[in-house]
Amino acid sequence: MKLGVCYYPEHWPQERWPADARLMRQAGLSLVRIADFAWAALEPREGHFTWDWLDQAIDVLATEGLQMILCTPTASPPPWLCRAYSDILPVDAQGRQRRFGSRRHYCPSSATYHQHTMRIVAAMASRYGGHPAVTGWQIDNEFGCHDTARCYCERCATSFRGWLELKYGTIAALNDAWGTVFWSQTYSDWSEIEPPNLTVAEPNPSHVLDYYRFSSDAFVTYQGLQKTIIRQHATEDRIITTNFMSQFTDLNYYDLASSLDLVSMSSYPTGHAESRSSLYMPSNAQPNLAYDVGDPYLTSLGHALMRGFKQQRPFWVMEQQCGNVNWGVYNTGIRPGTVRLWTWHALASGADACIYFRWRAGLYAQEQLHSGLLHHDASPAVGYTDLESMHAERSLMSEIACVPHAAQIAILLDYDSLWGIRLQPHQRGIDYMRLLFLYYRALQRLGLPADIVSADADLSPYKLLIVPAAYLATERLAASLKTYAETGGTVLMGVRSGFKTTSNQVTDLPLPGVFRELVGGTVSDWHSLPPGISYDLNSIIPGLIGPATVWAEALLPDTPASHPTDPNLQILAHYTSGPFDACTALVEHKIKAGRSLYLGWHPNDVQAEALLAHLASQAGINPLAALPEGMVAFQRGPYLILLNFTDETLTATAQGQSLMVKPRNVEVVIMHG
Ligand code: GAL
Ligand code: ZN
Repeated sequence: MKLGVCYYPEHWPQERWPADARLMRQAGLSLVRIADFAWAALEPREGHFTWDWLDQAIDVLATEGLQMILCTPTASPPPWLCRAYSDILPVDAQGRQRRFGSRRHYCPSSATYHQHTMRIVAAMASRYGGHPAVTGWQIDNEFGCHDTARCYCERCATSFRGWLELKYGTIAALNDAWGTVFWSQTYSDWSEIEPPNLTVAEPNPSHVLDYYRFSSDAFVTYQGLQKTIIRQHATEDRIITTNFMSQFTDLNYYDLASSLDLVSMSSYPTGHAESRSSLYMPSNAQPNLAYDVGDPYLTSLGHALMRGFKQQRPFWVMEQQCGNVNWGVYNTGIRPGTVRLWTWHALASGADACIYFRWRAGLYAQEQLHSGLLHHDASPAVGYTDLESMHAERSLMSEIACVPHAAQIAILLDYDSLWGIRLQPHQRGIDYMRLLFLYYRALQRLGLPADIVSADADLSPYKLLIVPAAYLATERLAASLKTYAETGGTVLMGVRSGFKTTSNQVTDLPLPGVFRELVGGTVSDWHSLPPGISYDLNSIIPGLIGPATVWAEALLPDTPASHPTDPNLQILAHYTSGPFDACTALVEHKIKAGRSLYLGWHPNDVQAEALLAHLASQAGINPLAALPEGMVAFQRGPYLILLNFTDETLTATAQGQSLMVKPRNVEVVIMHG
């Protein structure tokens, strides 16, 4: 496994660079990511390039055997560019043109910005594309960060119209797809269509969904511009990627990933635990974790998403937290062992490389309170000493990096459904990522590794597929799930599946719409349950007995009068109180070699775990280990990797053995059989 660091030579005196490079090598680092945000330093005036410092920095680093990941600096257009071409600035949803002064201040549809992007990228790529020490490229930095995935400027309005024309062909088809007859929205010309912001009441959800898709496509195009130029100068052995954000959902990462050589990500465990817990676990008591390591289940989900964006290929952590962040609420400090734990976690999840953010804590500007591997005064910080402590295990880490992460369970992530539910959650406890995380976390607690897959992924490697909510449904997905089940797979479908068409209109079919045949029944009614309200459940799976909260659907299995006891349909749970009393709540449908299950309520943690344990055992999937809360397990090839994210020594049971793992620590065991 390669380790590296993000370095900003332009922030430090040149005399310091050799010492930095030496310390990097001594810490066992081999990759250095540079030049993200360096546009003003590389081109201080239009067309006037100053490569000297970068040439020298690369030389100094290369002298110590380090290899560069060179970033294009387009996430931060310099002041002269913003001043001379102010039309590159983006407009936010409130209609305000954003100013220069931080970063990500550009509109992805701006032809002017495209030109300047191509200029700086071509200049960099032609200079460094063949450089022996430049092993890879990062395009831009974190597309969409700081709420910039969607721009609402006039240029975007024009491109949006073109995008719509291409998609719908005629204005009549668009009117039909959006249901514009409602509230007198019928358009007679493309020019009448605006971006869906600043409306008095809520905008049309079909209109907004298309704007989300259009905006995501705009970044795919923008990334493609850069990729093409870099590839003209850099041979295939130089990787080209961009860094995705863990848990970020405003852009379709499957689409962005498809033309990249590999997926890379930013991973900030303590920051994300703070910012995501309330969305994903609104009613949970704080789990029993060490406060300063983040939430292992959330961090694991971030990693699993990255694997999933490119068909389970290994990913890189391009930015790994290595001390405190500066953008959270508390920005907790971290202790010895944590950076090692996080590095092992990335490796266990399928990462090939881990690059720490950043080398040395900066003395000035926005991120001066962010940590690095070195303190502000250049003395080693906790991340650096962790790296030193890892020397002895680096060869084991490299061996593990050569074998794939293994999982027999997959969870489907579909952006249309995610965005559709976000646009009309119907009640505020419902969120696609919350549902997905609920299942993912339950599996991790059960010691069952899971992959995240797209709707068009090859499902044949998996014995169990979880579809959290196929809210916007296609015939194609229905057919592929049916084939999957017929050929021996188990599909678990969650609430609100089959509800909508891809235009974000409600289906006129009985629910669950296109999935009816697969499910073997109908959803006859659905209720949103406000906090404090629940319907009781009884089940043949003991762990499901209890309340249905958040959302409940009444199911009516297809039991034709001629076969009142269809052996292929089994009711696994039913309601015992409330308006759905006696209705089915969970139905299993055997189809040829496999089966489907439709779960009619939003399960709580206990129910999700009970159901998934039941399904995994029926499908013949054995847990990697019996795990206490706060310990997670992964398999790469023959290696079982156990990670303890708590303050206490914990014991797992795997393959008949008790395995002790110390606080914030890791154990690797070779599996037999
Ligand atoms: C990332 C970003 C970096 C840096 C870091 C701080 O999101 O890509 O440039 O800002 O956060 O945690
Ligand atoms: Zn724009």
